[in-house]
Amino acid sequence: MNKKLIVFNWKMNPNSLNEAERLFDSVLNFKSYILYYKIIVAAPFIYLSDLKSKVSAFIKNHNELHLASQNCFWEEKGAYTGEISPKMLKNLGIEYAIIGHSERRKYLNETDEIINKKVEAALKAGLKVILCVGESKKSIKYQTLNIKAAKNYIKKQLEKNLKGLSLNSKFYILNSRLIIAYEPQWAISSNVGSCPSAPQDALEMIKFIKQILSVVLHAPYVKVLYGGSVNSENIKNFIQHKEIDGVLIGGASLKTKEVEKIIKLSL
Ligand code: PGA
Repeated sequence: MNKKLIVFNWKMNPNSLNEAERLFDSVLNFKSYILYYKIIVAAPFIYLSDLKSKVSAFIKNHNELHLASQNCFWEEKGAYTGEISPKMLKNLGIEYAIIGHSERRKYLNETDEIINKKVEAALKAGLKVILCVGESKKSIKYQTLNIKAAKNYIKKQLEKNLKGLSLNSKFYILNSRLIIAYEPQWAISSNVGSCPSAPQDALEMIKFIKQILSVVLHAPYVKVLYGGSVNSENIKNFIQHKEIDGVLIGGASLKTKEVEKIIKLSL
């Protein structure tokens, strides 16, 4: 069974370990539903260790609940004050790393070159990578997304972010450990005037991304998710399409009622 992925991205929330554990419990409470898809919780670095113990204690041998970091550095170790290496995460038992989220591109000036190095380092360390890509502006044309412009943008972004990977990584590594999250920046709920992508547009973009991955990276099996203002009301509009392998959810993942509805609804 090809399970859909639901990634909860907590961003820089919540403010204490207690709250983080409570939020995580709201996911664990519905563990019986977690048989039908994979849930990945991307929590701030400082909570990962405690949450990891919770995963192990509550769900013995359960392999459908996972943790992700929201970033990592590109070197294995050394004099890089304040950074966390992919190897540290791997050694902590963390499986996934989100890389290239648009907020890091925007607020921390992460360039395509930096993201490329991070993707390569994380894959090399044995992590699974959720690489976020997405065009920055809604090119309005008759009130709809300018799909052609968006495709051009995404193609270039993918080529830069994944540069050299087809030469340096084995076929099975890319196909099993790389995940792309298509997150148009204008759709991310924290941006003024945001709205979710029309599901048909997201579907078209995701089919396009899969084509590019096949051609450029020889990676036809990479999963591609949609992200941007997904909530319990609209999640089905996206995951009902077989080409959309899951969703990345920010704002709604911080509300326990929403988490419950999302986990139950996406069945
Ligand atoms: P959102 O965030 O669901 O709040 O739009 C998604 C993301 O930024 O990853």
